[in-house]
Amino acid sequence: MNYSIAKATKAQMDFISERYWSKSPKWQQNRYNFIAFVACDSQNNIIGYLVCEEKEIPIMPYGKDWFIETIMVLKPYRCCGIGSALLDHAFSAAREQEIRNFQGSANPTKEAHAFWAKNKFTFFQYGRQHNDPSREEECGNYSHIIFKQVSKIDFYSLNRKTGRYNFNMADREQIDDIFFSYIEKECVKFYHDKKDQIKGIIASNADGEELGFITWLEMPLMPPLIGKQWYIPYVYVKPESRGNGLARELTAEVMTRAIENSITQLLMVHTNEDIMPYWYKLGFDIFIYRYLFRNPSGKFPVGIGKNLTGYDKRI
Ligand SMILES: CC(C)(COP(=O)(O)OP(=O)(O)OC[C@H]1O[C@@H](n2cnc3c(N)ncnc32)[C@H](O)[C@@H]1OP(=O)(O)O)[C@@H](O)C(=O)NCCC(=O)NCCS
Repeated sequence: MNYSIAKATKAQMDFISERYWSKSPKWQQNRYNFIAFVACDSQNNIIGYLVCEEKEIPIMPYGKDWFIETIMVLKPYRCCGIGSALLDHAFSAAREQEIRNFQGSANPTKEAHAFWAKNKFTFFQYGRQHNDPSREEECGNYSHIIFKQVSKIDFYSLNRKTGRYNFNMADREQIDDIFFSYIEKECVKFYHDKKDQIKGIIASNADGEELGFITWLEMPLMPPLIGKQWYIPYVYVKPESRGNGLARELTAEVMTRAIENSITQLLMVHTNEDIMPYWYKLGFDIFIYRYLFRNPSGKFPVGIGKNLTGYDKRI
């Protein structure tokens, strides 16, 4: 397939707007403000496009992001890599401008979800199940927020072991302790009725002193995604043991076990943006949950995750 990808010109945006966006006056009006890329065939006909909008997010280290408004490849040209090539082009252009975060929402179709999964986005389900049988492709499925960090941080580099700590599965009594002391007090309500499904790892030093823990909860992925994910309610390191990379090692332990258990992705939702720099530094994808909606505390709810499937599993 002979095609080329470039930043869209004004004339190309006029064409796209007139041809495809008659039902989206907002997009039509905003067309010159978008960051758009087009795929053209050898006669310079547009066969696909990707449209992003730059948004200023007042959270460190998130900064600006490119919100994916829409991506489309004409039917006869699908499954030839053009959609993925449009994304790669945008990722490179974004990196050049120090933009590291992409966020958007996936149409509730298998096709769209498979596409975002192939391109290693992380998924966060939102909204109700689509149950209109006249829309066969969407029926039974959910929409997902999709997000990805495109910096050069190597996610797997977080799996360095210092050998200073022992990691053991928490028993039920330890989980109960963690639940009542931390999860019930600090975490979103979502976890409050799930105590018995929560698992955890306790980190201790050579003397057997407990220094920290990490917990997780297995949940199914929602249709049309298939598989399982682990939500991480809480990671904790005792104040006197902080600054030595223990939380990173705890996270790496979970990642290793998740991969051994064929878990597709790790996911966390937090009521509070303060935890974002930690996960970001480790190479996790991050997103703004309920886009730019502040909590009464003045903080933003955020989400963090990583799609593990399809990555080089060299842990
Ligand atoms: C999503 C879309 C942009 C992908 O464009 P594309 O050029 O086909 O993308 P690529 O060739 O890079 O990747 C195609 C991948 O999509 C997935 N896919 C495509 N059609 C699929 C289908 N019918 N069932 C399941 N997966 C499908 C597969 O993962 C496929 O990868 P593979 O070819 O390696 O198996 C294109 O299908 C499209 O325009 N769809 C309609 C608009 C739309 O849904 N946009 C997404 C908005 S969220």
